[in-house]
Amino acid sequence: MSLGARDTMAAASRDMAGAGLRLAVEAVSHAYGALPALDAITLTAEPGEVMVLVGPSGCGKSTLLGIMGGLLTPDMGSVRCAGAISADCLNPLTYVFQDFSLLPWRTVAGNVALVLEGRLPRSAVADRVTQVLTLTGLSDFAQALPRQLSGGMRQRVGIARALAVRPACLLLDEPLSALDAQTRDLLLEELARIILTAGTTTIYVTHNLAEAVRLGHQIVVLSRRPGRVRDIIRVERPLDQRAAADPDLLAIEQRVWRMIRDDAAEADRERLHAPS
Ligand SMILES: Nc1ncnc2c1ncn2[C@@H]1O[C@H](COP(=O)(O)OP(=O)(O)OP(=O)(O)O)[C@@H](O)[C@H]1O
Ligand SMILES: [Mg+2]
Repeated sequence: MSLGARDTMAAASRDMAGAGLRLAVEAVSHAYGALPALDAITLTAEPGEVMVLVGPSGCGKSTLLGIMGGLLTPDMGSVRCAGAISADCLNPLTYVFQDFSLLPWRTVAGNVALVLEGRLPRSAVADRVTQVLTLTGLSDFAQALPRQLSGGMRQRVGIARALAVRPACLLLDEPLSALDAQTRDLLLEELARIILTAGTTTIYVTHNLAEAVRLGHQIVVLSRRPGRVRDIIRVERPLDQRAAADPDLLAIEQRVWRMIRDDAAEADRERLHAPS
């Protein structure tokens, strides 16, 4: 990266850095009709930190994310937000979706501007778009259309658009899962840098445990459905000091994997012995 680009990035970082929200989930339970999805979940996402939710397929991760983001009201329990929301925040709790959901006829800059138009003066929209495109490494693609971009670049646009509203909390549901392995690895590194720079409280759902240990300050391991908190592992290493081959991180990854594997094996045993 050139020195000029680095200076621009540093300026973007200074403007973006925010304290983020504390999100406290207390005794949350939820069912879909007769199907219990979550049972007595209590956890706290700390300001500016990344909380990763992992657990077996169908254990209620997306449901919990929806409840934390206010898209879904839980049957029982509460989610409380604490902390100052900066004056320039246009949407405190902001989602990044897996399918990017970009408008095909709008350019990259136009897709990002969409969430700001009508809410800020035109010059402020242009400034913010420039800033988040710099932060997400998209400056050279501002005038490109989504169809001209790779999957990884499109997901960057999704992330840029989410950051443009200066969220106090960013919620991501498997944001890299639609990408090929190589693109995923590259974007994961970018995402770590972006999250660190933006300083936003982040809730991140993934099946990928390498992503969990790369990004998480807390890794919340949920049990199989109905999801309960099985363990919460704190990863103390700062995000900018986490190498892929770090033995401490690999040990945590294996520990989490064993928990999920044992849970799945137990579920299989129960199924085998259940009366038919
Ligand atoms: N709208 C809904 N109506 C009925 N059941 C639902 C609904 N949404 C989810 N479920 C069920 O609730 C359970 C938890 O779903 P959820 O999507 O939260 O799990 P998940 O951990 O995100 O799964 P995955 O790992 O597959 O993404 C699953 O059994 C799912 O089938
Ligand atoms: Mg899900």
